[in-house]
Amino acid sequence: MQILIGVTAGIAAYKIPLLVRLLVQQGHEVKVIMTPDSVDFVSPLVLSTLSKNEVAIDFWDKKTGQWKNHVQYAEWADLLLISPCTANTLAKMAQGSCDNFLLATYFSMRKHTLIAPAMDLEMFQHPTVKRNLEILNQDGVTIIPPEFGELASGMVGEGRMPEPETLAKVILQGTQATLRLKGQKALVTAGPTYESIDAVRFLGNRSSGKMGYAIARALADEGASVTLISGPTPLTLQHPLVELVSINTAQELFEQTKRHWPSMDLGVFAAAVADYRPSQVVKEKLKKTEEPLTLTLEKTEDSLAWAGNHKLTTQYLVGFALETSLGEAYALEKLQKKNLNAVILNVLGEKGVGFNEDTNKIRIFDQAGQDLAFPLASKTSLAKEIVDYIINNR
Ligand code: CTP
Repeated sequence: MQILIGVTAGIAAYKIPLLVRLLVQQGHEVKVIMTPDSVDFVSPLVLSTLSKNEVAIDFWDKKTGQWKNHVQYAEWADLLLISPCTANTLAKMAQGSCDNFLLATYFSMRKHTLIAPAMDLEMFQHPTVKRNLEILNQDGVTIIPPEFGELASGMVGEGRMPEPETLAKVILQGTQATLRLKGQKALVTAGPTYESIDAVRFLGNRSSGKMGYAIARALADEGASVTLISGPTPLTLQHPLVELVSINTAQELFEQTKRHWPSMDLGVFAAAVADYRPSQVVKEKLKKTEEPLTLTLEKTEDSLAWAGNHKLTTQYLVGFALETSLGEAYALEKLQKKNLNAVILNVLGEKGVGFNEDTNKIRIFDQAGQDLAFPLASKTSLAKEIVDYIINNR
């Protein structure tokens, strides 16, 4: 899951580095936004090191002069937790005041926001604070109640921010209830395949695996148990719900597909599989001669076509079509020929679209006759759109 943590100027901010570390250990991606005053309570350097991401504080970067986009942060996040949340920040959230980067991000959030208010006993009891909490509750914000205990003022009472372990548990529970693919099993194929020519050379392609990995993460973030069959790529994916199966060749991909697909509920095949492999693999390294070298290639197994042919009516299968021309016609042909529920078309050759890019532009065609075009966007956000599409159309 992609978790955004907002830190405001409360003593309990000292607990946030531990929370960030815990969430990262659990396989989540974490970004931190701090209000300007909160940097007196906890170091941005510590939070950026533990989250492995830059910490956002201002609307613009004073070093580069570049503007920071709060909407991008809000879109990136699956969840925003503001903790500790001071009386000041919760008042501004309740009233629509937006004088820092964290508040601007909160007002741009379309997903779930949780707050962990932390303040002194008397402040927490104040009718204004109670009223603001009620407004936020009505706005759909989840309020994690403060615990009873010793407070920074030396007083004892309600106002203490819960410990990092408790906050991590609440995050997990809060999202579990809304996970739309909980209990489902998904198969994703990603990356290229390498087909050996000799002991050291291979036929391959430029696939980075980024789209497939982003889809695997987006499915797991919705609670699906994902088996990710991946060709060679430097990418890693640490998520408690993702099991990685590494393969090199189209044949290995085919064997793993036959092994896993029968027990799956859905599949998204994004691997860029070699359609041909050398008929014979030379055991040694081929020596250079003066003569031209001719390689004889044989067809590889089509894993997606096999999965489509063995698809049960309860299973939902999505393939990709990677085309340099006549995209729509070829995509529709693949939809029928491989017995898919939907096909996602990538049109190569357009700017920002392609194997090693972080962005992509897609169209989804399905058996219901829909043709859905998505504008150029990051592979991460397109992966979420694809998962939303699957959930809504299955
Ligand atoms: N695919 C597969 N196994 C193969 C070839 C393709 O599983 N041997 C899957 C890809 O993962 C993708 C879809 O089939 O989801 C379409 O791949 P693409 O390369 O666009 O098409 P091909 O079927 O290989 O046809 P062509 O190369 O002629 O366009």
